[in-house]
Amino acid sequence: MAARYLVPALAIAGRAAAQCSAATSTIQNQGDASAIAACSTFSGSIAIATGTTDNIALDGVQRITGSLIANNATSITGLSASSLERIDDTFSLTQLTVLTTLNFPRLTIVGTIDWQALPALQGLSFTTGVQQAGSVSIQNTQLNTLDGINLEMVDTMTIANNPYLNDINMQLGNITQSLIIEANGRNVSAIFPNLEWAYNMTLRNVSTMSIPSLASINGSMGFYANFFESISGPNLTTVGGSLSFVSNEAMTNLSFPELTTVNGGLQVANNTALEEVNGFPALKTVGGALDFNGNFTSVELPEISDIRGAFNLQSAADISSSCDHFQPLSGSNNVIKGTYTCSGGEAAPGGTGTLSPGTNTGGSSSSSASASSSANGVYISGVTGVMGVIAAIFGVL
Ligand SMILES: *[C@@H]1O[C@H](CO)[C@@H](O)[C@H](O)[C@H]1NC(C)=O
Ligand SMILES: *[C@@H]1O[C@H](CO)[C@@H](O)[C@H](O)[C@H]1NC(C)=O
Ligand SMILES: *[C@@H]1O[C@H](CO)[C@@H](O)[C@H](O)[C@H]1NC(C)=O
Ligand SMILES: *[C@@H]1O[C@H](CO)[C@@H](O)[C@H](O)[C@H]1NC(C)=O
Ligand SMILES: *[C@@H]1O[C@H](CO)[C@@H](O)[C@H](O)[C@H]1NC(C)=O
Ligand SMILES: *[C@@H]1O[C@H](CO)[C@@H](O)[C@H](O)[C@H]1NC(C)=O
Ligand SMILES: *[C@@H]1O[C@H](CO)[C@@H](O)[C@H](O)[C@H]1NC(C)=O
Ligand SMILES: *[C@@H]1O[C@H](CO)[C@@H](O)[C@H](O)[C@H]1NC(C)=O
Ligand SMILES: *[C@@H]1O[C@H](CO)[C@@H](O)[C@H](O)[C@H]1NC(C)=O
Ligand SMILES: *[C@@H]1O[C@H](CO)[C@@H](O)[C@H](O)[C@H]1NC(C)=O
Repeated sequence: MAARYLVPALAIAGRAAAQCSAATSTIQNQGDASAIAACSTFSGSIAIATGTTDNIALDGVQRITGSLIANNATSITGLSASSLERIDDTFSLTQLTVLTTLNFPRLTIVGTIDWQALPALQGLSFTTGVQQAGSVSIQNTQLNTLDGINLEMVDTMTIANNPYLNDINMQLGNITQSLIIEANGRNVSAIFPNLEWAYNMTLRNVSTMSIPSLASINGSMGFYANFFESISGPNLTTVGGSLSFVSNEAMTNLSFPELTTVNGGLQVANNTALEEVNGFPALKTVGGALDFNGNFTSVELPEISDIRGAFNLQSAADISSSCDHFQPLSGSNNVIKGTYTCSGGEAAPGGTGTLSPGTNTGGSSSSSASASSSANGVYISGVTGVMGVIAAIFGVL
């Protein structure tokens, strides 16, 4: 009797010992997956073969010290691992055209998540939720939620081209390298309630953005072609690189009440509905260029004391009072140290370098004394070209 029990026990032990370690173990079917169930730790990587037709359940394995890879397994519909808590290297899923179920209820730590081209995957069954990952890239999936990935910190995260994803909400406290969100659902909200700092952030095509705790950006932050009407960074004080707002066509309000320093450039361009730029009430320093173009009627920077690069403000509307305010601040020993240009009534308001240095025609570039009915009398009304030349001389001196 004893022998009967002993034989299979030995067989399992022997098999487990032989198979719990491999540079890469390739799984062709569920039988291969079951064969490593006794490995609480699998030392090495596990790959699902491209021709696999079975759904794969990697039950029993708690840790994979290498990667878990399923690339181009176009017949597999389900992948699960009921005990798996940790994948040290990469969890790579690419081109799994019919994968609908991803069930990893205990997974919490992953080196890198790299998921691409998962056109049938709509949700995750990650009950505990991944809390730690170095890098996350989720692109071209049908995921409509990222529930199951709730990171506390991450180095790089790219969430792009997931057209059904309308909800990105993470507890992240910091992003040590970069965050890129782009081309997800048309109504996607990106909510980061606890994010205090990020190295770099790029947001495109987002409908709602919430960064209430964000205090600093080491590198740059840019908002491009978003759908929101309003963006605010109530706690942001410092941007180490550049801060850009470009082509956010519904945006009527930007609000960064605590922002004092942008060490690179500050760009506000082609936000067609933005008329008043009064969202930088505390801004003192711009280390690079200040480059604003759009339909502004007024731009206010009440605390500005140092713009080291160029200053370019161009509007389709009359912006005389703002030009009148800023022009006297230009000059190499003054607030605006780089090339100064300011112009209203522009048919096509452009970026830095599109007007002659010194231009200061707040009202209409093509005419009239109204532009320079200025109280300070620093410059003289006249033809654009002449004004440009005079202003350029003042600018240079
Ligand atoms: C996927 O498999 C197809 C055919 O088997 C092959 O042509 C293609 O190159 C593979 N793609 C990747 C990314 O491995
Ligand atoms: C990063 O965020 C995590 C989670 O909020 C926090 O525990 C950690 O202290 C933060 N690290 C730094 C350097 O801010
Ligand atoms: C867009 O998402 C917001 C929540 O973020 C929701 O209140 C609103 O109804 C959604 N709009 C559409 C058109 O789905
Ligand atoms: C998304 O953003 C990109 C880059 O800013 C832009 O070219 C594209 O038109 C936007 N897509 C939509 C649907 O707005
Ligand atoms: C904003 O920053 C202050 C300190 O700089 C901090 O006390 C406060 O909790 C922050 N607010 C949020 C919403 O994180
Ligand atoms: C980025 O800024 C945060 C918060 O100020 C800081 O803790 C972190 O060390 C900085 N990272 C780098 C690489 O400078
Ligand atoms: C950093 O952010 C800026 C502004 O969004 C972007 O232009 C740049 O490509 C980003 N760099 C990285 C490495 O993500
Ligand atoms: C702009 O947004 C800020 C912050 O959300 C808000 O306090 C302010 O009232 C808004 N201004 C307008 C004109 O809507
Ligand atoms: C603003 O729009 C104009 C006209 O479409 C374009 O030439 C220019 O490159 C845009 N500026 C930026 C910063 O995208
Ligand atoms: C000004 O507003 C009009 C009408 O909304 C828009 O067509 C045009 O592109 C805007 N111009 C700029 C420079 O934002």
